Amino acid sequence: MFKFNLLIIAISCCVCNVFGKKQECPGADAQFEGTCYKVLPDQYDWMGGVAACANTTPGSTMLAIETEEENEFLKTWLAGAIAAISNGDYKYAWLYGSDLGENKNFLWHNSNGTGSHPFGFDAWGIDQPSSKPHYHCMDLNLEDNLFTWDSYPCTGFLNNSNGEPVAVEDFVVCEYPMPSLWE
Ligand SMILES: *[C@@H]1O[C@H](CO)[C@@H](O)[C@H](O)[C@H]1NC(C)=O
Ligand SMILES: *[C@@H]1O[C@H](CO)[C@@H](O)[C@H](O)[C@H]1NC(C)=O
Repeated sequence: MFKFNLLIIAISCCVCNVFGKKQECPGADAQFEGTCYKVLPDQYDWMGGVAACANTTPGSTMLAIETEEENEFLKTWLAGAIAAISNGDYKYAWLYGSDLGENKNFLWHNSNGTGSHPFGFDAWGIDQPSSKPHYHCMDLNLEDNLFTWDSYPCTGFLNNSNGEPVAVEDFVVCEYPMPSLWE
């Protein structure tokens, strides 16, 4: 029995090695259930983030959090990833959701860039989405590990109390489907 187990372990390791050679998510920082994730640690406005993701990998779009399970995965992974890249400077990540189609009707944009669809679940922060005008683009609030959604001006700038524009540190997480092993 012992020998048999060893044999199985030896065979599984061979299989691992063969398949391990092909990276499941090339160029990605993380993967979860068939989706690859990549952090772009720069500051973007919302449209800039959309473009930056599209330029990263074919089929890549900004992050849309579709399920509670994906949300749980992202909470754990992103907390560590952000601490590593920015010493905690990056507190907001753009999400691929907006009410740009219809005012105050927030939706996820489809990953093919055409049309949108409703949330499967939502995680709006307190008093979100904002009732303020111009707050049309969605953002993931990572401050204090809140992991809630806000609506923000798509420019990434807020006006301070003196009416001066202040940039918000909005970085981008891109997602794209895991390439098939058999392609
Ligand atoms: C984009 O995706 C949506 C949702 O999956 C689909 O209904 C629509 O037909 C797609 N559009 C194109 C141009 O592929
Ligand atoms: C900031 O102030 C400018 C100038 O008054 C205004 O045009 C802009 O809409 C304001 N931005 C937001 C997010 O309120």
